[in-house]
Amino acid sequence: ATAQIGVTGLAVMGRNLARNLARNGFAVAVHNRSPERTRSLVAEHGDEGRFVPAESLADFVAALERPRAVIVMVKAGGPTDAVIDELVPLLDAGDIIVDCGNAHFADTRRREEALRKQGLHVVGTGVSGGEEGALRGPSIMPGGSAESYRKLGPIFEKIAAQVDGVPCCRHIGPDGAGHFVKMVHNGIEYADMQLIAEAYDLLRAGLGAEPAEIADIFREWNSGELESFLIEITADVLAHGDATGRAFVDVVLDQAEQKGTGRWTVQSALDLGIPITGIAEATFARSLSGHAGQREAARRAFPAAGATWRVDDRETFVEDVRRALLASKIVAYAQGFDQIRAGSREYDWDIDLGGTATIWRGGCIIRARFLDRIRQAYDDQPDLPTLLVAPWFADTVRDGVPSWRRVVAEAARAGVPAPAFSSSLSYFDALRADRLPAALIQGLRDNFGAHTYRRVDRDGSFHTLWATADRREVEA
Ligand code: 6PG
Repeated sequence: ATAQIGVTGLAVMGRNLARNLARNGFAVAVHNRSPERTRSLVAEHGDEGRFVPAESLADFVAALERPRAVIVMVKAGGPTDAVIDELVPLLDAGDIIVDCGNAHFADTRRREEALRKQGLHVVGTGVSGGEEGALRGPSIMPGGSAESYRKLGPIFEKIAAQVDGVPCCRHIGPDGAGHFVKMVHNGIEYADMQLIAEAYDLLRAGLGAEPAEIADIFREWNSGELESFLIEITADVLAHGDATGRAFVDVVLDQAEQKGTGRWTVQSALDLGIPITGIAEATFARSLSGHAGQREAARRAFPAAGATWRVDDRETFVEDVRRALLASKIVAYAQGFDQIRAGSREYDWDIDLGGTATIWRGGCIIRARFLDRIRQAYDDQPDLPTLLVAPWFADTVRDGVPSWRRVVAEAARAGVPAPAFSSSLSYFDALRADRLPAALIQGLRDNFGAHTYRRVDRDGSFHTLWATADRREVEA
């Protein structure tokens, strides 16, 4: 046995992770179902470090030092189960299966529980950063046992992105905690992208600007509080011209696809009772965009209103959109961190929220300057009720509110859809309202279904006898 770790599944992510491991001095066993990929990896990159190629799974496992650590980098769902089923008979107690795919955390919990009984560790690990990240330093979110992290930690912390000398990897918590956190990361990624898309759309309509001009605006924003990977690549994509001479963004079909992690985030939030409205709007906005038939029918019935809209004061509008974007982004992150806290409580994971923000500062798709502030906020006050009230976030939102309202109002007047901007503003207004109309909902529920209500002035549950003449209230 000569390899410290192995990677099976050598499509681009697996291949790049293996190269990253090798480049960082780890001897890495590599295996792929069809051996051509293993051969081509070694032929093309064999000089980057120590690869131990294996054509059978048995040889692959035999090449690993004990306890063995096997990274499985195949499609989530059935393919992952199939590889694990093949691996298990070849492994011994104490060995570690590291699932680096985008698995659903519930699947990871199931696998971890089943294999724990056989003495094997299953470590569901979120890996973010796409192909480049996998190669040059991703953000790594491992779940699983503390024992498994003793072996994996030093390896993963070395190959992860580093920010201010701190690796973008830490043990998130037991069983499915890593995949859960990666799932919420992707939900936030959806929200971030939707907000950016709305900002672009509003600028384009309100200013009558071309994508290349809007690219300059994003480039400028990237030197301030919004500095982030997604803002940076937005400028890049908007500035890109197509071979036809048109802006690239104008030749791409306007139907956003998804592989499912955003949907999982929303489903989990519904189960946990956490209102992640920004992520949900972003996920629904993608699905709406895909309903081409309905869009066509509606377009015919209600010809677009936005075409003639132009703002009066361009500079103010650009700054308003920037502030609205920042405030909405704060809402999305506040909601995402609420969900992580709720998941951590529900599944007993003891996730460190500030620590999670720390490992998203680099490597991952949502990496941003802003994440340092989130880390700071949770470090200063671990029991923060919501990120919105942490000092810097509260000040930023407060400063941004007039802009936020102007942008949402202008969008509504002009008929430009801004679902994530407007629902984030509504979330903010609802959260800080003195009284919510939820009281009326309780009254209606009690009226038609005797569902009872609580009172502001007394403890207990009550029901009004709505059908009686005197509408007497009784204790339920
Ligand atoms: C990452 C990304 C990565 C992938 C998403 C895309 O963190 O590196 O999140 O996991 O790009 O799964 O998801 P959609 O296809 O659903 O947009």
